[in-house]
Amino acid sequence: MTLEEEIIRLKEQHKALILAHNYTRPEIQNLADFVGDSLELARKAAECHAPVIVFCGVRFMAETAKILSPESIVLHPNPHSGCPMADMATPGEVATYRKAHPDTLVVAYVNTTAATKTEVDLCCTSGNAEKLIAGLPSSQKILFLPDANLGANLNGKLNRKMDLWPGCCPTHNKILPEHITAAKEKYPDALVLVHPECTPAVVALADRALSTGGMLKFVRESERKEFIIGTECGILHRMRKENPDKNFYPLEPAVLCPNMKKITVEDVLFALRDLSPRIELDDAMRQKAKTPIDRMLEVLP
Ligand code: 13P
Ligand code: SF4
Repeated sequence: MTLEEEIIRLKEQHKALILAHNYTRPEIQNLADFVGDSLELARKAAECHAPVIVFCGVRFMAETAKILSPESIVLHPNPHSGCPMADMATPGEVATYRKAHPDTLVVAYVNTTAATKTEVDLCCTSGNAEKLIAGLPSSQKILFLPDANLGANLNGKLNRKMDLWPGCCPTHNKILPEHITAAKEKYPDALVLVHPECTPAVVALADRALSTGGMLKFVRESERKEFIIGTECGILHRMRKENPDKNFYPLEPAVLCPNMKKITVEDVLFALRDLSPRIELDDAMRQKAKTPIDRMLEVLP
């Protein structure tokens, strides 16, 4: 039996569902029952009612799945797969900020730990942040955390003055304007798509700033044939598979999130064999963290 066949056998035995983020390794995406962006994966976890969810993505995403599907055993096949940005705003730091700014609404990017989510009012993803913030009164003081790039891009687009937490995605922050300019020179007919975790200077050079799910939808529906892709390279697998008649050009140097690549096929096999490692959350914390996530799920992209 191959590793993949053994995984399918165990998956059927446990009635498990494999969820994978768009940045995971191609072989993981091929194994998954559903591949998506962080909002799509949260929605899937909330509605799937699977006894076992194998979550292939970084830890905060697997925590969100557990918060939304507490009856499921949520397996996170490699516990070392974390998002460094999610650790840039601790619950203690956010609580201190709240005490000092009692009239400020705290909006958290979903890239935060479950513990930090207990200290915030609302969550959003890059897929629905614009709609969610546009729906808040313009007089409302807001802190946006932890991604200062996403926050600054939203401030620019929505003409707001949200307070920004000094965090960022180390992977997207490495993309420089000159990387975009060089790609445009090389592929003059291509549209440039970037993730809104890129700096405002990079976003200013792009044709669109979209979540990973937004990019996949855009390239599927576009009549254009060539695209420069300014986000983590894992997304190219799905783009090429779903659009064999179109060309997708990664930036140079390659944009890679080492944490998203940590989960391997072997990890998935061992997780399903041992039903471990699991995401376990204290119940009080889980319930408190669910409120801002529920508010996030109310807003469509
Ligand atoms: P998406 O919600 O666009 O998939 O983004 C998640 C992420 O971690 C981007 O770095
Ligand atoms: Fe976190 Fe950035 Fe990796 Fe996304 S790409 S999981 S934000 S480190």
